[in-house]
Amino acid sequence: MDYKIRFVNYPRHWQTHRDEFMAVIEDRLSRGELIIRQDVLDFEKNISELTGAKFAKGLNSGFDALHLSLKALNIGPGDEVVTVAHTFMATISAIVLVGAKPVLIDIGKDWNMDMSLLETAITPKTKVVIPVHLNGRMCDMDTLGQIIKRFEEKGQRIHVIEDACQALGAKFNGKGAGSFGATGCFSHYPAKILGCFGEGGALTTNDGGLDEKILLLRYHGVMRDPARTPKMFGYNAVLDNIQAAILNVKLAHFDEAVTRRAEIAKKYQAELSGIKDLKLPHFEDSRYLDAYWNYVVQTTKRDELKQHLESQGVETIISWPKPIYSYDFYKKSFPVDPLPVTEKVCREVISLPIYPELTDEEVNFVIQAVKDFYTK
Ligand SMILES: Cc1ncc(COP(=O)(O)O)c(C=O)c1O
Repeated sequence: MDYKIRFVNYPRHWQTHRDEFMAVIEDRLSRGELIIRQDVLDFEKNISELTGAKFAKGLNSGFDALHLSLKALNIGPGDEVVTVAHTFMATISAIVLVGAKPVLIDIGKDWNMDMSLLETAITPKTKVVIPVHLNGRMCDMDTLGQIIKRFEEKGQRIHVIEDACQALGAKFNGKGAGSFGATGCFSHYPAKILGCFGEGGALTTNDGGLDEKILLLRYHGVMRDPARTPKMFGYNAVLDNIQAAILNVKLAHFDEAVTRRAEIAKKYQAELSGIKDLKLPHFEDSRYLDAYWNYVVQTTKRDELKQHLESQGVETIISWPKPIYSYDFYKKSFPVDPLPVTEKVCREVISLPIYPELTDEEVNFVIQAVKDFYTK
């Protein structure tokens, strides 16, 4: 279908910064700067500064960041990891693929982990909690921290791995996503808030020991010394140098991009907040600074709204239409009792376009199309 307004618009994004992108691509390719060159190191410094975490490592994907975090913390068979069902498959794959058991809990009114359910989900086998900061909004890290502390006082060590794949730039109590947990995991998939032109990811940590372990795990256990001494077994999960160079170009525009997203979110809020059957992603709580990666709305008429917007040429997406635990392959391995909020949200959420290149006219067009649906 030929959409009037795409959900993401890669060609327009390319055109906006074309000269800057072409300059770094031409330069790095002509000099053969391909694997873990200065751009990767600069990128890591930039991510560390942006998130407020002491260390950062460029990886091949957000999944790698989650997977290597669990590996670095020695999580494996017999261990339990608590997270939410309302997340992208990668969060749960990472847990299963290290041999641990995912324990899924429900979400709250902001579509993030319901912290009131966390304590009862923790068992003596629980080694990790993965809060997923969804849609550019962080989880309630205050309550999470208090719960973890209570268990620590009883002698049970529980690590926090932040799935911040959708939340670069978001803050809680003034601290950046990725600076709270043992590690923070970021995705630079093209559609993300900071996306490259292929696969990409990053991991942050404040722990020098973990940082070194990630360095080894991400490239066959090899140190970056001239002798390339292997110290352990590892993967090949390194961020491509050209992608790092692209990400550094985009990082220079990151603040303006987040500001524009917030501006669009405000416009949606101002124009759509009067519609009764439409819940908007604004949850007045001054502890949170949202990055608005995704503008999710919730309505009992979700499928009809999607159809109407399609007919008007507005592309939308649904994240996600079914809880992960309801798929046969999942149920066979880990039966889960249905989680009521997750179930309802899967039936009712829809994401509207939100990205820096969207013009005011296009935002107004989306707003009018939504209004028309509710007044027709
Ligand atoms: C919440 C969440 N976790 C993990 C991932 C995995 O990131 P990647 O696609 O870079 O592996 C994503 C990306 O879509 C995500 O949205």
